[in-house]
Amino acid sequence: MRLMLSGAIAGSLLMAGAPAFAADANHGKTLYPACAACHTEKPDALGPSLKGIVGRKSASLEDFRYSPAMKRANLTWDEATLRDYLKDPQGKVKGNRMPFSGFANAADADDVVAYLVTLK
Ligand code: HEC
Repeated sequence: MRLMLSGAIAGSLLMAGAPAFAADANHGKTLYPACAACHTEKPDALGPSLKGIVGRKSASLEDFRYSPAMKRANLTWDEATLRDYLKDPQGKVKGNRMPFSGFANAADADDVVAYLVTLK
């Protein structure tokens, strides 16, 4: 009985932690190859690794040469800042040199962020 109860509590906590919008990580995954064209773990990748990006400080990888704009941005990449950045990279971090113009469809940005959360 006690076991069942704690299961129910854990379940409702998980629900409470879910974002209010219905972001779809599986759909995000199908969009992610557009990012992986540049963002890989390889040393010669055009973009910095996005492993563990959620919760990371902007421009914090030692082995990637960020633009001065990104170095100055002083953001913590959480779900909200990532959504803003992916909708409008130049609007969020003016002068950064990521050659990606942003998702025209806001739901696509939400879904990619939901997928980024799973990259550990
Ligand atoms: C054409 C190459 C390219 C594509 C496509 C691209 N990026 Fe980037 N991205 C970069 C580069 C280069 C930077 C570094 C920018 C700077 O230093 O100004 C960057 C930076 C970032 C950062 C900041 C990383 C950090 O460590 O602070 C995030 C987050 C990010 N990109 C996410 C994405 C996502 C998600 C996608 C797909 C929707 C994507 N990018 C598509 C090249 C790319």
